[in-house]
Amino acid sequence: MKAQNVPVQKPQLFATSRPLSRLNDVYLPRRGYPLYVTTPIYYVNDVPHIGHAYTTIAGDVMARFWRFLGWPTYFVTGVDEHGGKVAQSAKSKNVPAQAYVDDMAKIFRSLVQALNAVPDDFIRTTEFRHHQAAQALWKTLEDRGHIYLGTYSGWYAVRDEAFYSEDEIQDGKAPSGAPVEWVEEPCYFFKLSAWQKELLAYYQENSHAIRPKERYNETLRFIESGLKDLAISRTKLSWGISVPTHVGHVMYVWMDALTNYLTVLGYPDVEQDNFKTFWPHSVHLVGKDILRFHTVYWPAFLMAAGLKPPERVFAHGWWTREGKKMSKSLGNVLDPFALIQRYGADALRYFLLKDIRFGQDGDISEDALLQCYNQDLKNTLGNLAQRILAFIDRYCSNDFKESKSPPIDSEHEALQTWGRRALPYLKFCIEQEDLYGYIDLLQTSVQQVNAYITKFEPWKMLNIPEKASHLLEGLYSLCMFLRDIALLFSVVLPKTMEKLLQQMGEEKEISSGSIQRLGSPLSTALWPKPEPIFDLENV
Ligand code: MSP
Repeated sequence: MKAQNVPVQKPQLFATSRPLSRLNDVYLPRRGYPLYVTTPIYYVNDVPHIGHAYTTIAGDVMARFWRFLGWPTYFVTGVDEHGGKVAQSAKSKNVPAQAYVDDMAKIFRSLVQALNAVPDDFIRTTEFRHHQAAQALWKTLEDRGHIYLGTYSGWYAVRDEAFYSEDEIQDGKAPSGAPVEWVEEPCYFFKLSAWQKELLAYYQENSHAIRPKERYNETLRFIESGLKDLAISRTKLSWGISVPTHVGHVMYVWMDALTNYLTVLGYPDVEQDNFKTFWPHSVHLVGKDILRFHTVYWPAFLMAAGLKPPERVFAHGWWTREGKKMSKSLGNVLDPFALIQRYGADALRYFLLKDIRFGQDGDISEDALLQCYNQDLKNTLGNLAQRILAFIDRYCSNDFKESKSPPIDSEHEALQTWGRRALPYLKFCIEQEDLYGYIDLLQTSVQQVNAYITKFEPWKMLNIPEKASHLLEGLYSLCMFLRDIALLFSVVLPKTMEKLLQQMGEEKEISSGSIQRLGSPLSTALWPKPEPIFDLENV
């Protein structure tokens, strides 16, 4: 994604000091620039956990927003099926590796569905297309003179699938706390040391290529401290992609895995439409623990292969549970399937993005999730919808059917134009991966409108003929606000907002370019009886 350097000011809902822009003032062009958003491909050595759900949700929200704009979007997630860690899991279960990954991939795919995420592709690294792509990249690097044969002797942590030098080992463990083993084997190396200058120059010129800022700084410090050549093949392991033309070597799992970002675009056929449209306009969403792989190794491989580095790597933080790291041995891992079953995918999507700013660490507890559900979703957003729709249904549905009110009062105009006026800032938030900011603007405006209704006092206007048109106009404006909020919130809360749109006689499907629906007239003729949109019994 293009770096967005010009901040967009946060808009005010009831901006009375300056004239409101008219409905058709919004500048967004129909065809903008492409967004290629990726999640890491997840190791299938174990069942999915909340960390996996987190990045998939974030990527899905960004992709849904971009599609809503009608701009070219490609969103990909998938699974990392090779390497020692996965091989060990298959072995411990006494299952052939391929059969094991086939089963696990199904579970990861079902998490994507359960989260209501809609990727354009789901990649598995055991697929033929990926073998082809990874081998093609290897050959290109080798042909261009960036690979040589040597011997690796050093530490390796299977849990991290990472090589560590002597000085990185602390108390016999990797910096991540993972156990390490001494490895000595012939292997191929990638001349990473040769890329130090280019990487530094690239990042100095592209300060938005890594976000948040502290991850950018961390990467720069790492590169400045000097880069060593990287072992990129293994001979003691057979579960992986064979190194083309060098029998007995399989590719280092990270070399294999990173290539997935090209495979899904059709690499090695760089003339394919998808490749031409989306590379290098990527936002690789990753956890902070796998930063270095994405901000040092990956761009170096790409530059060495004559390809452009990714435009953005965004590293998010880690979730702990009640202050502790989640791990199987502590028995405190949160199962995303169970949370979805209890609270619904929308609640989980909302909570994970609203509880902490994307990029920071956070602590998760089921209590906090339930509290967020009740406070933000049920009692604020759900309450606003119910207040407006139930009022109309109960007191004035016949008159409302006929109403097509032009805005007169400035507050009504503010409500009617809000969706469109909020758009530039919301787009800016997505471009900054500020998913918290996106939600916060919508949620704050919902709170303001709840307060506005209390001031507007529609119930006091009932049965007063001279107030009838003002009442209808106010309700119409509130409904336009609500419909636009439903459209904009649908990227975070797809299922619930579908319900809300249906209750307002709207097309529930959000399709490419649905942005045009913001600020459009309502179709008030046939609204079904309103029902609460947040209701745990119906999850
Ligand atoms: N297979 C590699 C990625 C290859 S991408 C080319 C991998 N897989 S993983 O399954 O171990 O981790 C996937 C992601 O989950 C990482 O981004 C990691 O940061 C994230 N998380 C793992 N535990 C997490 C939390 N407790 N909280 C948030 N995210 C966490 O690494």
